[in-house]
Amino acid sequence: MATLHLMVGLPGSGKTTEAIRLEKACRALRLTTDEWHYQLFGNDFRKDGRNREHDRRHAAIEALMWDTARKVLALGVDVILDFGCWAREERELLRQRAHAVGADFRIHYMACSQEVLWERLRERNRNVGREAVFYITKQQLEEWSRRFEPPGPEELAQQENEAAGERGACAGAAPERSGRK
Ligand SMILES: Nc1ncnc2c1ncn2[C@@H]1O[C@H](COP(=O)(O)OP(=O)(O)OP(=O)(O)O)[C@@H](O)[C@H]1O
Ligand SMILES: [Mg+2]
Repeated sequence: MATLHLMVGLPGSGKTTEAIRLEKACRALRLTTDEWHYQLFGNDFRKDGRNREHDRRHAAIEALMWDTARKVLALGVDVILDFGCWAREERELLRQRAHAVGADFRIHYMACSQEVLWERLRERNRNVGREAVFYITKQQLEEWSRRFEPPGPEELAQQENEAAGERGACAGAAPERSGRK
């Protein structure tokens, strides 16, 4: 059975970094919204917070990604959605969608302190224009941290019943390649 892996965490928490590791470990299809967004629309994220157009584009990309993800899962291949997913409701919807196509569901929660988040983002902000990254201000990070709903113990325990460990959660991975690095 394939697994839908969902990356969860605030900006700078290391979702994409971990998703890149995971795509090799699980031989999964990784779908990172920011990479597609950057290729399609460039750096359209505004520091002043007026990001309605950016958000609309982002949502459209994620809708297309889900359409691809469900087809790939049905083929028996793991998929990693590198979306962020701050809202519990949003994660629940994806869990239900995964189950509807017969896939397991696994959350990868990248918990991180505010200090570490800002330290990493400050460093990463230097690469805006050179990588598929958007400039994030300290104010934006603080505002998003207030909106973020971290997965609770119940949410995380639920997935352990469905997919015991990473090794077991990697559909189709050859034994010698399926373990953690
Ligand atoms: N475990 C780690 N230890 C130290 N640095 C890390 C770690 N994980 C990621 N980083 C660094 O922190 C920065 C942010 O990581 P990354 O881009 O993976 O975060 P993200 O959660 O995907 O952020 P965003 O939501 O903005 O896409 C990067 O510069 C990355 O190299
Ligand atoms: Mg990322």
